Amino acid sequence: MPLRGDICETERLSSSRAKFEYVPAMGAIAREAGALLMQYFDRNIKIEYKGEADLVTAADRKSEALIRERIRELWPGHDVLGEEEGLRDTGSEYRWYVDPLDGTTNFAHGYPVFCVSMGLQKRQEMIAGVCYDPTRDEMFAAERGKGAYLNEQLIHVSKITNLAESLLATGFPSHKRHKNPNIYFYHQITLRSHGVRRAGSAALDLCAVACGRFDGFWEFNLNPWDTAAGVLMVEEAGGRVTDFGGGPFHLDSRETVASNGLIHGALVNEFQQIFAGRGLEVLPDPREYAKKD
Ligand code: IPD
Ligand code: CA
Ligand code: CA
Repeated sequence: MPLRGDICETERLSSSRAKFEYVPAMGAIAREAGALLMQYFDRNIKIEYKGEADLVTAADRKSEALIRERIRELWPGHDVLGEEEGLRDTGSEYRWYVDPLDGTTNFAHGYPVFCVSMGLQKRQEMIAGVCYDPTRDEMFAAERGKGAYLNEQLIHVSKITNLAESLLATGFPSHKRHKNPNIYFYHQITLRSHGVRRAGSAALDLCAVACGRFDGFWEFNLNPWDTAAGVLMVEEAGGRVTDFGGGPFHLDSRETVASNGLIHGALVNEFQQIFAGRGLEVLPDPREYAKKD
């Protein structure tokens, strides 16, 4: 069986923009913010610290200011929660979740894996999302009930049915990193799959699940601006997103597991086994390894 087979089959729908309500304007804003990020990228930008290893740059701040300004111009009554400026809450039934630069550590080191992520919620339900990767000119977009698209091509999650044949992704938050147990999950699931990537942009990881590049993704302690758009992308591409126990995912959840749906049960089961300490592969002792000649 070919590994990817007809995964990520695409269907060009030139009329896709026409049926979207928010995506055309959202996409234009994300593109503008992405172009702004590229003006700063790989130019020895000054790094500031929000925490021990939690970086921020002028590009994060300028991108968020631009996005907020555009949202205010187009939808003045909507509320906005952005990573850098926090929440503007007027009690609107619409709330935007904005990550003006997802992948700041990559960006600050000149590693070209980052994006702009914007999600729109209406009465507690995500209704639209875009993630724009300016380094590859890839625009991921979705609206509730209307499918998910990559550069206007309909995308679908992969058809891999076995965890053992899956390629997965995870991430390690920079905040409270000494309290994060994810390295154990990384270790165990690496040994039970084709591998686990750690690329450094949770929003792009979710988009990669949506278009079948990855079969699954998980992370501890993500924030709503990291997941708002990407979770909708996965769901609209036919995938599944839950907490680590397989229960419903909530935007403020500290647990995110996304997959093509087909390996979801197996992945959640692995989580339960690892949390219970059952069947764990033992890490080789590096001191023993060092002794070998
Ligand atoms: C981070 C990235 C990273 C993930 C971290 C996030 P930021 O977002 O999404 O992949 O592992 O948990 O905080 O700080 O670059 O916007
Ligand atoms: Ca982020
Ligand atoms: Ca960010």
